[in-house]
Amino acid sequence: MTMIALLAGDGIGPEVVAAARRVLDVVAPDLTYEEGLVGGAAYRAQGHPLPPETLDLAHRADAILFGAVGDPAFDALERAMRPEQAILGLRKSLKLFANLRPARLFQGLEDASALKPEIARRIDLVIVRELVGDVYFGDKGRGFTSTGLREGHDLMRYDEVEVARIARVGFETARTRQRRLLSVDKANVLETSQLWRDVVNEVARDYPDVALSHMYVDNAAMQLVRDPGQFDTIVTGNLFGDILSDQASMCAGSIGMLPSAALNHESKGLYEPIHGSAPDIAGQGKANPCATILSAAMMLRHSLDRPDAADRIEAAVAATIAGGARTADLGGNLSTDAMTQGVLATLETAA
Ligand code: NAI
Ligand code: MG
Repeated sequence: MTMIALLAGDGIGPEVVAAARRVLDVVAPDLTYEEGLVGGAAYRAQGHPLPPETLDLAHRADAILFGAVGDPAFDALERAMRPEQAILGLRKSLKLFANLRPARLFQGLEDASALKPEIARRIDLVIVRELVGDVYFGDKGRGFTSTGLREGHDLMRYDEVEVARIARVGFETARTRQRRLLSVDKANVLETSQLWRDVVNEVARDYPDVALSHMYVDNAAMQLVRDPGQFDTIVTGNLFGDILSDQASMCAGSIGMLPSAALNHESKGLYEPIHGSAPDIAGQGKANPCATILSAAMMLRHSLDRPDAADRIEAAVAATIAGGARTADLGGNLSTDAMTQGVLATLETAA
């Protein structure tokens, strides 16, 4: 029996996870689910954003479908108790070091993209983001300088094993696409990046069939807006990948369209939309569920070995969008429920 951990979390998390569950029930009705509390919801109920039962559930499950965490009510809490620590803790505990973030423009969404239609149409890339290192996990602290000024620091650090394993995921991913890998760093300024570049070049020897190039992150940010069509597969560190993938989402229409997979060396993965808990629209039934529905498709493909079911979902979302279905973030007025109904109806017609 295949068991999925459903960690809906905060804000729009429960709304979009429920939508994805309805779609999964059609394409993979035999899956079973266990729900767990996470983030602000868990803090409210149990006094911790990632309670032991939730962590245990995540370890027992075959895969995890995650919504989002983050609740303005808890912004003043000490860092360790903030809802966002739950997702960082899950990534760390499950050693989910590789984050796949595909960004492509669905047919018909040219008008929603921040780019000119003829430029937006060309975007079809995947960002392979390192997920358990970098400044997010390095030594951090607050204090005072010798002259009494308030000070803060976050250490950026990678070792060669961490870089090599994410580089391999980058090359392997490129092999499933156009065999072009771009490594993004800031090697002109950062020692961490210089190590990154050296190790990526070493790993490249095992992938002579993949064309490797390098780019500084500031230029990559610029090129992503100028001409995203030039990119195929991008591999980069945690911080740069976080920022570039949010940027890529707006090129592809909306942050509400972009799914992600967080993977380790085993088949287990954590699947989540790249967006957060969107407190500004939570509880209003207007969140775009597509990013989470497409994350469920990635789960079927990468963790459950059901590529056909994944294809069905992706085709249904594409057809629904091509048919003109639009939530508010895409410039329309469909509710979360109506968008989900649209996808379900398309699935039914296609079956
Ligand atoms: P956000 O992604 O939640 O929202 C950014 C903007 O995009 C908002 O205007 C929101 O309404 C809109 N948006 C996001 N998802 C949408 C969807 N599915 N449909 C329609 N519109 C959508 O990022 P923000 O506002 O910076 O963070 C809100 C909270 O979420 C914070 O507590 C933050 O720490 C947390 N967060 C959690 C993440 C996670 O759980 N993996 C990732 C990013 C942020
Ligand atoms: Mg982000």
